[in-house]
Amino acid sequence: MNIAVFASGRGSNFEAIVKAVRSGKVKANLALMLCDNPSASVILKAKRLKVKTVLIDPRLHLTKKSLEDRIIRHLKDNKIDLILLAGFMRILSPRFVLTYKNKIINIHPSLLPAFKGADAIKDAFDYGVKVTGVTVHFVDEKMDHGPIILQREIKIEETESLSSLEGKIHKLEHKVYPEVLRLFINKQLKIKGRKTLVINR
Ligand code: GRF
Repeated sequence: MNIAVFASGRGSNFEAIVKAVRSGKVKANLALMLCDNPSASVILKAKRLKVKTVLIDPRLHLTKKSLEDRIIRHLKDNKIDLILLAGFMRILSPRFVLTYKNKIINIHPSLLPAFKGADAIKDAFDYGVKVTGVTVHFVDEKMDHGPIILQREIKIEETESLSSLEGKIHKLEHKVYPEVLRLFINKQLKIKGRKTLVINR
């Protein structure tokens, strides 16, 4: 199975996936890392880890269609079977999602459907919730919306700071994303409407 990771920023989840693949915990070929932000530090990480990198510069594309066509060409050329979004700050069009139907997974740092969007950890912290967490889900045409595969919770203590919460969330993400990847590769995920069933546990 050929995997592509899409990332726009720091790339800590990307790194966790690389480690899981290289240690043999996940049996897949990490074929490429695709980034849409020329100044993202994930590009340096990929270089250090010797993972093939595709940089898509949005400034070179007048339309979303042209940008996505370019991405799709790279995916086809590399025979990609599964896309993992890991901090990819771009909403994929319905056409793109349909092209890779049930083959795009995202990780989000809250218990969806609470706190969608780019600042989920801070939004949950500022709201004062006592429990937050991590969600891994299939991607559909709406943001942070597709069928949920896995959720893990984290308690927010009264003494918690935002940065300690961020640390806990990211640590948990790095554990659960490879777990979900293994379930997908082992064909243990079955989508039924809004629900994802995990079979043969
Ligand atoms: C993660 O918190 C992920 O859940 C969210 O974006 C962040 C990416 O972090 N979608 P990193 O770039 O993997 O370090």
